[in-house]
Amino acid sequence: MYDYMLGGTDNFAVDRQAIDRLSELVPEAVPQARVNRAFLQRAVRYAAAAGVRQFVDLGSGLPTQGNVHEVAPQARVVYVDRDPVVAAHARRLLDDAGEAVFVQADLLDADEVLARAARFLDLDEPVAVLLVSILHFLPDDANPQAMVARWREALAPGSHLVLTHAASVAQSRSGGGGKVIHRGSSRRGGTRSPAEIRTFFGDFSLVPPGLVQAVDWRPDRPKLVSTRPLPGYLMGGVGIKD
Ligand SMILES: C[S@@+](CC[C@H](N)C(=O)[O-])C[C@H]1O[C@@H](n2cnc3c(N)ncnc32)[C@H](O)[C@@H]1O
Repeated sequence: MYDYMLGGTDNFAVDRQAIDRLSELVPEAVPQARVNRAFLQRAVRYAAAAGVRQFVDLGSGLPTQGNVHEVAPQARVVYVDRDPVVAAHARRLLDDAGEAVFVQADLLDADEVLARAARFLDLDEPVAVLLVSILHFLPDDANPQAMVARWREALAPGSHLVLTHAASVAQSRSGGGGKVIHRGSSRRGGTRSPAEIRTFFGDFSLVPPGLVQAVDWRPDRPKLVSTRPLPGYLMGGVGIKD
């Protein structure tokens, strides 16, 4: 379904029907999926331009469009997902991609994923860890904060943390822009407030413009997609370990 939302060809009639129906009910779903994926690609290009040659894509969701190893072909990439269907597709997709591997694991088990990533990557060198459109699926009682903290601690200086996270937005009375609200649903997963999302970066330094709407994070020019104002939106940011 996600592949179809992104304009890919790795999907089935049942996926297309489901998303066409979803689009009628939630018209922002497809634009937001594309905003999310375009953010991931800009952030990967940013990290690669900063000299990062190793990536870990947690909750990678392959197959999809513009994968990390395609955006940063010089890099070594570890994709992580627990879904067996994703695993089967990923192995097929990555057969010829010598510098990319797939690890089927629960990303909440940071020690296990770190150990398996370390077989393929040099963790004494900078790594960009991607948590793109995944943290809002993880409720507080699954302790995603501890998982991200484990990565922050294990990574070498110069490493990047790349994330998007769903937040909530309410229209201002004037109708312009949008005011961020917290729906208080973080304990069940779902949206978190910008302040809560910021805590995932810990003491990493946020790259300008900071944690912003993903569509506004270092947009390619001209900006092709504008999703504002939306009833719900996606924040994105990149932090660096000093
Ligand atoms: C919305 S997709 C995001 C795909 C990609 N990161 C992107 O933003 O384009 C979320 C993916 O996370 C995976 N996932 C969810 N919970 C997970 C967990 N605890 N461990 C590993 N993968 C998980 C799902 O199987 C799914 O493929």
